[in-house]
Amino acid sequence: MKEKSVRVGLVGFGTVGCGVARLLVENGDILRAKTGIRFELVCVVDLDTETPRPVQLPDGVLTSDLEVLLNDNTIEVAIELVGGTGIAKEIQLKMLRAGKHVVTANKALLAVHGSELYQVAREADRCIAFEASCAGGIPIVSALRTGLLANDITALYGILNGTCNYILSKMSAEGTDFAETLKEAQAKGYAEADPTLDINGGDSSHKLTILGSLAFGYELKLEDVYTEGIEDVSQDDIRYADEMGYCLKLLAIGQKKPNGKVSLRVHPALILKETALARVNGPFNAISLFGHAVGEVLLYGRGAGMMPTASAVVADVIDVALGNSKRSFDQVQVKSRQQIAGQIEAMADCESRFYIRIMAKDHPGVVAAYGKVLGDHGISISGALQHEGRGPDDTVPVVIVTHETQEKNMSDALAEITELDTIGGKPVCIRIVDIPEDKDD
Ligand code: HSE
Repeated sequence: MKEKSVRVGLVGFGTVGCGVARLLVENGDILRAKTGIRFELVCVVDLDTETPRPVQLPDGVLTSDLEVLLNDNTIEVAIELVGGTGIAKEIQLKMLRAGKHVVTANKALLAVHGSELYQVAREADRCIAFEASCAGGIPIVSALRTGLLANDITALYGILNGTCNYILSKMSAEGTDFAETLKEAQAKGYAEADPTLDINGGDSSHKLTILGSLAFGYELKLEDVYTEGIEDVSQDDIRYADEMGYCLKLLAIGQKKPNGKVSLRVHPALILKETALARVNGPFNAISLFGHAVGEVLLYGRGAGMMPTASAVVADVIDVALGNSKRSFDQVQVKSRQQIAGQIEAMADCESRFYIRIMAKDHPGVVAAYGKVLGDHGISISGALQHEGRGPDDTVPVVIVTHETQEKNMSDALAEITELDTIGGKPVCIRIVDIPEDKDD
């Protein structure tokens, strides 16, 4: 029988593009042994055709002209690794309209324009595969699409940004402050020269939009995800929270609530130190998923980098070649925006426990006054911590941990506390997230 051959095109010959080329060009034997298919990388498009790359392409493959790829009717699979929501969108649209299946790692584009692109793919009878868009080398998309399909997913908790996790782990282990740790992460190549989207939570929100849609079967938009970053995290809070048994992570959370609403949010979160996610350190990613039948499933691995991300991209190329991606793309059912109207929980209604730190003037009755404001808003205190010593303006840190309450109660209470003349500066408020435990009874 004649060996099947699949011709592949790639746009974007950066770090991940080089990893993809390496797997397709240098590891073709492994792919052929596993799939019986010979993958041929026949066209690589990048504006920069001069800079030497750590992989050798066959002669004539590299070009700066996208039309070469689009006009080659023998190319079945086209990979977009340009990134961003601008030119990358045009490239994907052109690829689909030229009759190519698209493989991409572009989370921002799918989070913002996914519905439109999926529609164009359906009209062209093609598919878009995007395993590499979420958590790099971790096969989370495939887990949700296939392995966990029998489950009603009730919650997912993800550490989806390696840059933030590296910074928070380091601050926690070494007592460093945010600004110096970010600089160090940049120097070591863990953080981008412009790390804005990582640090402000945007990158995690893009990923949660995609994963939440797969997990809960909703057509989600980026604006459905409440987003806060780690810019304001301080060493003091990491230390006090540690004393109380918590560690700080940037979490992406999707929960199906008992009232049927879905809560989607990315924010710094305190989690108990003994939970599995608390032990995910450095640039690693992890996702803890809860299914009604399976219980908890924990996926862990490298969420970024040349070869881990290339591993996911090439897995998609193979899946497209085998016909699996198209079948799964066609079969996915999501409730439309109209059907899910009112089904995304407003952040003001979200319930959690809270850690608050108030820099208090050290006068009689101040702590009682804070307790009264919290009580007036129906908020119950579950723990408190106060060390002797002085902060700025002769203040002392008063740390209070609360029982569960709605976000709006806490913001109203904090607004009132901020008005008191016994505090120095704005209170710090960090949500405490209790990740369920799936224990053997
Ligand atoms: N910049 C991301 C991270 C990887 O730090 O995890 C790509 O989304």
